[in-house]
Amino acid sequence: MTTLTLVRPDDWHLHLRDGAMMQAVLPWTAQHFARAIIMPNLVPPVVTGTQAAAYRDRILSALPDGMDFEPLMTLYLTEDTDADDVAAAHASGLVKAVKLYPAGATTNSASGVTNFDNVRPVLERMAEIGLPLCVHGEVTDSDIDIFDREAVFIDRILDPIRRATPGLRVVMEHITTSNAVDYAHAQDDSLGATITTHHLVINRNHILAGGIKPHYYCLPVAKREEHRLALRAAATSGEARFFLGTDSAPHTDANKLLPCGCAGCFTAPNTLPILAQVFEEDGALDKLEAFTSKNGPAFYGLPINNSAITLSKSAPDLPTHVDTDDGPVTVFDPGFDLQWRVA
Ligand code: DOR
Ligand code: ZN
Repeated sequence: MTTLTLVRPDDWHLHLRDGAMMQAVLPWTAQHFARAIIMPNLVPPVVTGTQAAAYRDRILSALPDGMDFEPLMTLYLTEDTDADDVAAAHASGLVKAVKLYPAGATTNSASGVTNFDNVRPVLERMAEIGLPLCVHGEVTDSDIDIFDREAVFIDRILDPIRRATPGLRVVMEHITTSNAVDYAHAQDDSLGATITTHHLVINRNHILAGGIKPHYYCLPVAKREEHRLALRAAATSGEARFFLGTDSAPHTDANKLLPCGCAGCFTAPNTLPILAQVFEEDGALDKLEAFTSKNGPAFYGLPINNSAITLSKSAPDLPTHVDTDDGPVTVFDPGFDLQWRVA
């Protein structure tokens, strides 16, 4: 096969940031993706409907002329979140999900949740109105090994929340373990799971063997090879519960290459070429469209896009860095020569 036409993809988990960084990274997503679920972990976080509306306006103002892109806004769940404000932001069509960060789990998560009982009323309201909860699934306990934090979160936090809140629609975001794949498989269609591009390509050796590679450090951190293979099998299965959320998370090189560097891989520019190659290698090119363009809209109750994108089999011309007014941002290096380009 030398060309591949897909319903235009969406990204169900994206960090656009704000200001100069957003200005520089937004076109890389908008050139390939029709819509994206926009993460609210700004400083300060996007907590209220009013803040989400203002952020949406800033995104649309940063969009270059002639580009079509719909930001799907989210609210950052805090222990003070007002259920009425969430319901109103949902009813107006502005907000498509609420994001749960365990406090301290990742970048700008300090305002997240420590005591899950305190967000119960909001979660119950979300279950009533059908508003999905996007979950960063890692415990933050210092005595839990970082490579076990996702599996422990599923047992200790996620499953109890779902049992206590029947009907709550939940997206397990950026899953990184076979434990998460197995859990997702065992649930009904109120549960979805996103998988990133980078977690299909790297395991923990890529980060740590032969010298530390800060550009491969993200959260949840990549795990053992057996987990990467479980993610590959899930993504390429075409099953409705699994869909693309790149978690493309730009940080300047200056902020990545520090004694305490930031977590995040910037994959917006090359996600589609990488995915085409991954799916082709696994003999699953016929499942790529489900993963990038159909399963996500079905979970969120949105129509699939009515435009298409074509990939052709030739090496893409992609930058290694994207320049921003804050400094360069390194594009994720999959470690192999790419063979597909977006026409
Ligand atoms: O690697 C990550 N980067 N994981 C997250 O959960 C947050 C993100 C960011 O905002 O940089
Ligand atoms: Zn993220």
